[in-house]
Amino acid sequence: MRNKIQLLLQLGILISGRGSNMESILSAIKKRKIPINPAVVISDKPNAKGLAIAKKLGVQTEIIDSANYKGKRQQYDKEIISILRKYKVTPTNGLVCLAGFMRIVSPHFIKKYKNKILNIHPAILPAFPGLNAQKQAIRFGVKFSGCTVHFVDEGVDTGPIILQEIVKVSNRDTEKTLSKKILSKEHQIYPKAVELFARKKILIKGRKVKIQD
Ligand code: GAR
Repeated sequence: MRNKIQLLLQLGILISGRGSNMESILSAIKKRKIPINPAVVISDKPNAKGLAIAKKLGVQTEIIDSANYKGKRQQYDKEIISILRKYKVTPTNGLVCLAGFMRIVSPHFIKKYKNKILNIHPAILPAFPGLNAQKQAIRFGVKFSGCTVHFVDEGVDTGPIILQEIVKVSNRDTEKTLSKKILSKEHQIYPKAVELFARKKILIKGRKVKIQD
């Protein structure tokens, strides 16, 4: 059993809060839809709600409190890397998912885990990158928005796009109602993207991602 687990890809999930995307990925793994071992969930906030969910699902958790690393981004990320390594989530045998992780990751971390870090963003990138994407979409008056799973590169939400899903924005939508609509699509595409990665169906050429069937 031990050997079998070691051969499987090792997954590390980074969260800051609610953890509903993390939960959607962990549930899909539990249902055996994704061949990956959920090695660790790391939070930068000691009170993140997602920590209790991860524990309940039997996944190891770690907290690296961002309050102790003000202005020390690289040092913070070195700590993340050392925790990931402790759980065997290495650049060769691992995948890191940012799931509502509200920190910008350092170039050092991105270079080490090149094309091994995924992020979910609540907008159709390249529209509305950065914070409060749903609010930006409502303010701009778009008729459609949605969500994007992409590889993380050195820019803010600029990495190669893996999957996107759209939702219709109605006149009555508020930031809250739009966020809810988008979130239910996020819960579909993030586990799907992790599955594609785990099954080695993703090919990256430059900034283009090709999905093999
Ligand atoms: C999700 O909507 C995710 O797309 C967003 O934060 C929320 C986290 O929810 N991420 C970003 O805005 C990143 N720029 P969750 O903790 O329930 O998964």
